[in-house]
Amino acid sequence: RATKPRSDDLLAWYDRHRRDLPWRARPGETADPYRVWLSEIMLQQTTVGAVKPFYERFLERFPTVESLAEAPADAVMQAWAGLGYYSRARNLHACAKAVVENHDGRFPGTEAELLKLPGIGAYTAAAVAAIAFDRKAAAVDGNVERVVSRLFMVEEPLPKAKPIIRALTEEIVPEDRPGDFAQAVMDLGATICTPKRPACAICPWMQPCQARAAGLQETFPKKQKK
Ligand code: ADE
Repeated sequence: RATKPRSDDLLAWYDRHRRDLPWRARPGETADPYRVWLSEIMLQQTTVGAVKPFYERFLERFPTVESLAEAPADAVMQAWAGLGYYSRARNLHACAKAVVENHDGRFPGTEAELLKLPGIGAYTAAAVAAIAFDRKAAAVDGNVERVVSRLFMVEEPLPKAKPIIRALTEEIVPEDRPGDFAQAVMDLGATICTPKRPACAICPWMQPCQARAAGLQETFPKKQKK
């Protein structure tokens, strides 16, 4: 019978291999919620490599949530130009205004409050709560779906598997360091537990991975046939 994946094993791997990304606080520091939120919105439909230069430039122009809220809409659109999906930029601006007007310029720290803000859905609310506030929250994106569906061999195909995967993720989020845990699972999915040819031999969760034990890692997540 497979053992439950231990967060300690993943966090020890993360401490050695974490990617140095501009929105990540250094070990021991707390992340700025504004910077974390901005990164999560940009990363929704854009890769880490493509986001980096836009992110740095955007922050130079709008270093605080106040500066973004006060900016004219066309200045925000101009700073966003090149990232695409422009509804994200409109929601971004609306969210900054709501944080300033309704929350005194400070992002709320719970998933439930974050969810009420423009452009913040289940994934972003959990990611910001975990990464910026170290709340126990399950931030499930495509990478996490792949990792978790393999760990537990979730036979249900996507998208019906989503609530199952979410519940399983909630079970493995630790009390200690939930923000690092969220980013560690993302890094694992991006660098080791890849869609094709995952590097199971060097995976910190090889031992508890049910799909790996069955030799079926590449067949998860299952997808609904069209
Ligand atoms: N993709 C989405 N959010 C991310 C994060 N915080 N770190 C790495 N990749 C991500």
